Amino acid sequence: MAFKSAKNLMIGTAVALASVTGVAIAAGDSVDTGYEMVHKHWHWSGAFGSYDREAMQRGYQVYVEVCRNCHNLDQLAFRHLGDKGGPFYNPEYPNPNDNPLVKNIAAEIEVEDIDADTGDVITRPGIPADYFPPVYPNDAAARAGNGGALPPDLSVINKARTGGADYIYNLLIAYEHPIPEKLKKDQTPGLYFNPVMEGNWIAMPPQLEDGLVEYQTDLEGQNPPEPTMEQLAADVTEFLAWSADPKLDERKTAGFMSLLYLLILAVLLWFSYKRIWARLKQPVSG
Ligand code: HEC
Repeated sequence: MAFKSAKNLMIGTAVALASVTGVAIAAGDSVDTGYEMVHKHWHWSGAFGSYDREAMQRGYQVYVEVCRNCHNLDQLAFRHLGDKGGPFYNPEYPNPNDNPLVKNIAAEIEVEDIDADTGDVITRPGIPADYFPPVYPNDAAARAGNGGALPPDLSVINKARTGGADYIYNLLIAYEHPIPEKLKKDQTPGLYFNPVMEGNWIAMPPQLEDGLVEYQTDLEGQNPPEPTMEQLAADVTEFLAWSADPKLDERKTAGFMSLLYLLILAVLLWFSYKRIWARLKQPVSG
């Protein structure tokens, strides 16, 4: 901004100050709920981090037993669960369509199909190539089942919300935070206080509690952790982090390999440089 005179400069400064204080007043309006976000150190964070397979498997169980009552995963096919880096990947079955575990998982969920002979709509157990079928037939039915609110698809929710995994995790565990006195007047039936949700009220009832899901011994025969509310929340968040970014592990490996390649190249260049100069620096004879 160019000010032609000192007077214009003063007006400009006053306007700028007013807008700054205006923002400050607006921010002061939102009630401080006193909730402190828990920042977890996720398995996949950092340069070498990757998703934890057991955590993803447990998280899938939480999704199916709890979240799937309302939320779809429409970008995911069952076979993706058995892809490299996925929760049920098995190197014995590089093609996840052959992975018996993935087949069982798919068969547990009914999908719609068309009868080839009659043309009728039928349901049959899923196969690995099927996508997760919608939980509700359409958005109107989903809203009707949830007091007018639409449960969002969870396939890429970790990417869709600012704060990513920390946001999802905290959203799931923050329901127990007491309602501040100032907000009690806003209480409405069908809305639940949640200090992490924008606007502090959410149409999703509290979902998780200690012991809600019974974890099985995992595929490697390890005993699972206690299914506390926090553990269930962390596991389902890990599963959803993977579904939102299933190629993260591959990307990190590729990044690491290119760094390694550059390092080797640098060392080779250094040695050839030394050799060339060693020859050139020899005194000229004759
Ligand atoms: C009984 C139905 C129901 C179940 C079960 C359920 N949700 Fe929800 N969920 C909803 C509804 C409805 C909304 C939309 C809330 C709103 O817009 O106020 C929602 C919203 C969300 C959101 C988005 C919040 C935002 O920032 O907009 C996330 C994330 C979420 N649910 C995760 C989960 C997870 C994870 C589970 C399983 C542990 C789960 N939900 C189980 C009904 C459900």
